[in-house]
Amino acid sequence: MTDKYTGKINLFDCATAQKVIGQENFLAAFKTVLDHGAYCQGPETKEVETKLANYSGVNYCATNSSGTDALILALMAWGVKPGDAVFVSSFTFVASAECAAILGATPIFVDSDPNTYNMDPADLQRAIDEVKKEGKLNLKAVVAVDIFGSPCDLDKIMKIAHENGMKVLEDAAQAYGSTYNGKKAGAAADMVATSFYPTKPLACYGDGGATFTNSKEEYDLLVSCRVHGMSPEDHYDNVRLGLTGRLDSFQGAVLLQKLKVFDEELVKRAKIAKKYDTELSSYFGKQKILDNATSAYGLYTINCEDRDELMAYLKEHNIPCGAYYPRPVNTQTAYKKWNTRSLPVCEKLSKTVLSIPMHPYLEEDAQNYVINTMNEFAAKKAKVAA
Ligand SMILES: Cc1ncc(COP(=O)(O)O)c(C=O)c1O
Repeated sequence: MTDKYTGKINLFDCATAQKVIGQENFLAAFKTVLDHGAYCQGPETKEVETKLANYSGVNYCATNSSGTDALILALMAWGVKPGDAVFVSSFTFVASAECAAILGATPIFVDSDPNTYNMDPADLQRAIDEVKKEGKLNLKAVVAVDIFGSPCDLDKIMKIAHENGMKVLEDAAQAYGSTYNGKKAGAAADMVATSFYPTKPLACYGDGGATFTNSKEEYDLLVSCRVHGMSPEDHYDNVRLGLTGRLDSFQGAVLLQKLKVFDEELVKRAKIAKKYDTELSSYFGKQKILDNATSAYGLYTINCEDRDELMAYLKEHNIPCGAYYPRPVNTQTAYKKWNTRSLPVCEKLSKTVLSIPMHPYLEEDAQNYVINTMNEFAAKKAKVAA
């Protein structure tokens, strides 16, 4: 019988960083914004863009009002429109596909690799061949998601996309802080979008996101599109369609504070993940991280045939957990019209995955309790099977 843990365990922890950084530092930063009054895209926003571009090792970062807007703006900058095919993993948060659909393009759903849970390059190739054979859509872009913070197979995905005249937008919403081939997230694809939603590895206290590029031309388009397609010369001449997609100065101020502890937080997440990797029973499948990548561990997600039973068991033991995602995007009501391909791995994952507590401030006792409770569940299952 697992010893009871009496503290509260959180699946995510958005609050402890305030204590670690010092709430007074947030309040002082907010007062600065109140005093200067440039609430939208003020000096904090500009400073954080410079810091993020430097952190990622890219030329440009344009911050946005959300990760979803970051994705939409990237596709707008590439001129995605009706008649275009945008290839996207289906085992993801809806925004990865929504960004294409909202611009009138056709999302083509691609299956996942059963070990990494990310886009399967072989199925991407199959999906491209099918669209080419049908000859109705223009091959335009691939949205490649880094699910749970773990980079997708960009070398293969970019090769396939580029051979077919397409660009790759990496959806690193859950993966800011990860690395691929030694490059930080933001630098490894043609354009990269991320989210600063409160549960993300680098989080603000509200909505926020950013798009990264090395191209001045793309950056200028991102900047124009995030303010209604404004001309840089004449702010009352909107030269293309756009939206209100800016990051406000308060969230910029939060991110500047959060960046102070971001690297330490990533180290803590990796340490917690390593302990789960080594101490959780082999009854639970673990997400494979590519050899040439490191995960930001936005989530720690196992897979298990008895997922729903395990979920109930953990809840009974006051351990929060979540099934991300219980429905692949292609099966959701608004997306069924694009549900044209068979995606057996996505379907299976949606029934077996479970995310367990993962955040930098998860205490060792709490993690031991999670591990022991899960291993107890696994032992009970093994006994029944014997
Ligand atoms: C994979 C993925 N893409 C995009 C988004 C959208 O980000 P936001 O919630 O900031 O719009 C999220 C957020 O949950 C996400 O997990």
